[in-house]
Amino acid sequence: MSAEIISGKQIAAEIRAELAKEVAEMKMKGVTPGLCVILVGDDPASKSYVTAKERACEEIGIYSDDNRLPADTSQEELIALIEKMNSDPAIDGILVQLPLPSHINEQEVLMHVSQKDVDGFHPINIGKMVLGQEAVLPCTPNGVVEMLVRKKVKIEGAHVVVVGRSNIVGKPVANMLIQKNGRGNATVTVCHTRTKDLKEQTLQADILIAAAGKPEMIRADMVKAGAVVIDVGVNRVEDATKKSGYRLVGDVAFDEVSQKASMITPVPGGVGPMTITMLLKSTVNLAKKRLG
Ligand code: GUN
Repeated sequence: MSAEIISGKQIAAEIRAELAKEVAEMKMKGVTPGLCVILVGDDPASKSYVTAKERACEEIGIYSDDNRLPADTSQEELIALIEKMNSDPAIDGILVQLPLPSHINEQEVLMHVSQKDVDGFHPINIGKMVLGQEAVLPCTPNGVVEMLVRKKVKIEGAHVVVVGRSNIVGKPVANMLIQKNGRGNATVTVCHTRTKDLKEQTLQADILIAAAGKPEMIRADMVKAGAVVIDVGVNRVEDATKKSGYRLVGDVAFDEVSQKASMITPVPGGVGPMTITMLLKSTVNLAKKRLG
């Protein structure tokens, strides 16, 4: 069997067209959604994510205030910038790109991004998500669920196996999929580095979500025939044939797993464009509050 490729790029383009229309209408009413992006340091992957986010904002008409700070920025300076953005009426959402340099306490910094938490990383938003209340949802897991919904994958009653327990992807996606709502009702297993027999678990998955950050760790013999495979991994591996010296691979060995799955996301062009799209959507949703 050769799997259907789920094109995040295509689904993202559809949603972005819908959002561009909405933004144009909001502008006519005098509100331009505004996003503040803060990057500390010069991690190459973070830099390219942030550049892609800024470009996406421009494409659909969102105002973006880009702040690139040196790696030795102090925690106090970073918090001062966040507070300034908190009181800037042109800004609806604030995004602090993670990871932050090791001298900065990530959790302490994120506590200052509350009303304008477009990433859904503040404990209040996480708490609301877990309780099934209306919340700003983290972009990557929200993009994964949106993809499954738009591709009409049956989530209710499905056994979902998530590989990875990060705060950004594994924990929230598992939580979203167990919620008692139209985008949830799945049975979810979360696997991690201490899981005893990973393959025994992944073979149970109707929907397998790989978010471990390990290049091509999910092999064909770990996947049930006909499973839907979502690859959240974005890993740079050395490749002398490329001008950049590297290529991007996911957490899934695409060539072999695509022979076994019924649907699969590619890397790049799968989850990545969806993450940014959900960020745009959350920015627009936060800006709607200004319209009353
Ligand atoms: N680093 C990796 N993914 C994300 C994300 O979704 N948001 C932020 N702020 N940082 C990230």
